[in-house]
Amino acid sequence: MSARKIIIDTDPGQDDAVAILLALASPDEIDLLGLTCVAGNVPLPLTARNARIVCELANRPDVPVFAGCDRPMGRALVTAEHVHGKSGLDGPALPEPTMPLQDAHAVDFLIDTLRREAPGTVTLVPIGPLTNIATAFTRAPDIVGRVHEIVLMGGAYFQVGNITPAAEFNIHVDPQAAAIVFRAGAPITVMPLDVTHRALVTRPRNDAFRALGNAVGVAVAEMTDFFERFDREKYGSDGAPLHDPCTIAYLLEPALFTGRHVNVEIETASELTMGMTVADWWRVTGRAPNAMFMGDVNADGFFTLLTERLARL
Ligand code: RIB
Ligand code: CA
Repeated sequence: MSARKIIIDTDPGQDDAVAILLALASPDEIDLLGLTCVAGNVPLPLTARNARIVCELANRPDVPVFAGCDRPMGRALVTAEHVHGKSGLDGPALPEPTMPLQDAHAVDFLIDTLRREAPGTVTLVPIGPLTNIATAFTRAPDIVGRVHEIVLMGGAYFQVGNITPAAEFNIHVDPQAAAIVFRAGAPITVMPLDVTHRALVTRPRNDAFRALGNAVGVAVAEMTDFFERFDREKYGSDGAPLHDPCTIAYLLEPALFTGRHVNVEIETASELTMGMTVADWWRVTGRAPNAMFMGDVNADGFFTLLTERLARL
């Protein structure tokens, strides 16, 4: 079977970094066409810097990295330095990138790539706010039908919110963009907090990263050592939740995840619940299902896959 063509839209972020590394460690299954960066965890100049740092950590300076939207479609940017540190990639001491940023805007890359590649052959993997994706869909509606699948990290149902009482960070930062993406009609698979809060980097799992003996294993251990503080303090979690890598693990081993095909709408009116993913998990509204909303993960299987793949880099 040929490798699946994907574009990762990202706001690195330590967990974004692990997702990118997992993709790069899996070239037989994943053909990473490019990284499109968006403002989110930290401002755009830093997410574009961090994406290139991660590519060079994996010795893949050939991966094209594009800068995209530097602010949400209709709101001021909210960032998450309190989780990811001032650089967005605090933890390991990694060198500044030497590989160049691509000249093209990320939104143009998304549009041009979806128009160039055969219809239904490109998967979009957004793991930050959905600003780039929604901007591309708005500017070029013809590309929506050409998308094979959108596999995104964002939202929550039972876990409700991590940045406000009602909303998960990626959706909360740009709710208008999320509403556009969830209504666009492309097949969507969602990795919400309900799943990612079960993918915790416990101490034995972190030790297994460090024991890989390669630079990637040590860097990932140091990244998760840093960004676990927020979730340990807030939730009493037994380690850092690896939110974004769940999307790539789904592409590699979908059977690790279970969920329901339900309707998901985005709150864009009330400031009280702005960015809430209103998932009709119990199918009480009669609204047409528009997303495969994941609810559980085989965490041991996820970490076995992740650790084995990181060993390859
Ligand atoms: O809520 C978790 C999400 O917000 C992850 O994608 C993390 O990287 C941040 O972007
Ligand atoms: Ca992210």
